[in-house]
Amino acid sequence: MLTHLLGGITPQQFLAEYWQKKPLHVRQAVPGFTGVASRAEIFDLACDGDVESRLVRYRADAPETSTVDFGPQRRTQLRGKKTPWTVLVQGLNLWVPAGDALLHQFDFIPQARLDDLMVSYAVDGGGVGPHFDNYDVFLLQGFGRRRWQLSNQEDRSVHEDAPLRILKHFQPVHDWVMDPGDLLYLPPQWAHNGIAIGECTTYSIGFKSPTAQELAVGFLDWLSEHLALEGMYADPDLAWQDNSAEIVPAMVDQVARMLTGIRWARKDIADFLGSYLTEPKPTIFFEPPDPPVDEETFARTLAANGAVLDPRSLLLWSETAGFHLNGEALTVDAADHATLKQLAHQRRVPGSGKLSPAIVQLLYCWYEDGFLHLQENAA
Ligand code: SIN
Ligand code: CO
Repeated sequence: MLTHLLGGITPQQFLAEYWQKKPLHVRQAVPGFTGVASRAEIFDLACDGDVESRLVRYRADAPETSTVDFGPQRRTQLRGKKTPWTVLVQGLNLWVPAGDALLHQFDFIPQARLDDLMVSYAVDGGGVGPHFDNYDVFLLQGFGRRRWQLSNQEDRSVHEDAPLRILKHFQPVHDWVMDPGDLLYLPPQWAHNGIAIGECTTYSIGFKSPTAQELAVGFLDWLSEHLALEGMYADPDLAWQDNSAEIVPAMVDQVARMLTGIRWARKDIADFLGSYLTEPKPTIFFEPPDPPVDEETFARTLAANGAVLDPRSLLLWSETAGFHLNGEALTVDAADHATLKQLAHQRRVPGSGKLSPAIVQLLYCWYEDGFLHLQENAA
């Protein structure tokens, strides 16, 4: 982790005093930082059909006339002069290696909670308007300056006719101008408004906050694929019905009894979480090496240079359900657990590490799928 990132407090202090409790504003959290992508790179990504983006023209005087265009953007749209505008690019960590490295500076918060890195580019006066988010966010100023107003107001009513969630009554209690490299942590539901002072970029390190409903639907979906109930519907005592269209109480009772066979244990929940939290988003595709090197060359290069996980790869583990990579459970010998835990934490294997043949074989499979890449030079 970068030394100044939290302004001199330890991650433990941050968790105890700020995380999900109150904002933290750190001047020069990343000294010399001006971003990980140029304006041209941000525009290229915004115009790319594989990348999630939004172009927002927020009109403070008439919020309902604000507009949001989802990507891919047209290049000619990224020039407007009349209404201030901003373009937001999601998942920058997936496309820009320095973005992935920046995102993982924040893994003093567990990777299981980490979502993605977003960048916004705005012209003078641009922003998305006063709003609140349901997730935690770190906002890191790239190039240029931005004014941030914050409020912990209870009133969360929003303009119903606006295409964005914009607060009707925004009453800021903090007002800060952020320079390049300044950082702002916001807990969920803190209202905020960022207004560009001249052209600027802001990086958002966002966290996952699934709702109970999303988790339940995800779990039931997972369970449906792992369920194996015995028995079938039977009615040797079937009684004649004077109305053949009725679903009789005896049928409901029998099905109710059958469904009591749906059970799950804590291990199933851990297993579900492992695959749910590592499942790549539907827009994600891996690029296998073309052509791949053979296993022997792989093993030699791995031993010399090491390897890194692809930025799109998600690898998590739990004591209860073991390892999951990109939505799949892995079978790993107990003797290799420590190595794999280290790899999951650091997202890389050092060149000098002593690896078992089983791990080398496993990593070769990941390499062939494009989940992991060999380092070109000794790390
Ligand atoms: C922005 O970068 O303009 C938006 C970030 C946010 O308010 O969540
Ligand atoms: Co926000």
